[in-house]
Amino acid sequence: MTNNTLLANVPVDLMYQALETEKGGVQIYTTALRLAINKELREEWNKYLEQTKNHVQVVSDILTALGLDPDAETPGRKVVRYLGTSLVKTMELASRCADPQAAQIVAAECVVHAETKDHLNWELLGELAKKATAEESALLMPAYEQVEQEEDEHLYHTTGWTRELWIQALQMPAVLPPPEEVQKVDNAIEAAQAKKSRTANAKATTNAKVPANAKAKKASAR
Ligand SMILES: [Fe+2]
Repeated sequence: MTNNTLLANVPVDLMYQALETEKGGVQIYTTALRLAINKELREEWNKYLEQTKNHVQVVSDILTALGLDPDAETPGRKVVRYLGTSLVKTMELASRCADPQAAQIVAAECVVHAETKDHLNWELLGELAKKATAEESALLMPAYEQVEQEEDEHLYHTTGWTRELWIQALQMPAVLPPPEEVQKVDNAIEAAQAKKSRTANAKATTNAKVPANAKAKKASAR
């Protein structure tokens, strides 16, 4: 790569942070899967784990193509690694101390923490790709277009799972799988709409139970 002026310093550190986030993601999903008891959630996270393994390769390939060593250490990458390791340790703690349902929620929260960073990385890489030289953009843009939609799914769908698993634990009507997943949400606006629609879905679930409750009340009134 002859022109490396844009992808220097901060942009390069972002690339290394992105790689470390994906590598941490593999560890986080591997651990989270041990805590996942819902069958459909396990299926989702298994899919995300495979996609995340591919993202590690995608970012490593970009760094290599830019003439950079994917194994080089940077301060930003070190911090990201610490965060990933902390999330894995958090889940391990939950698996020792919490009941299976609570540990599953901790795992979902940890995935959301990790995917929030992952999603931001790719959003920024997309911005970088738009402003990069033609040569740099040719590397970044196809990767961004391939990965970004998967990152949307990882973040928005798991956020929905986390909320509904919490609502279920609170013994309130939960919508499982969450509307974000059922509606195949892949952007923030759709995620907000899906979240809003859950109230109607939950109400419908509650109303569906009303005849039985009403029957019981009628019987006791007699
Ligand atoms: Fe990813």
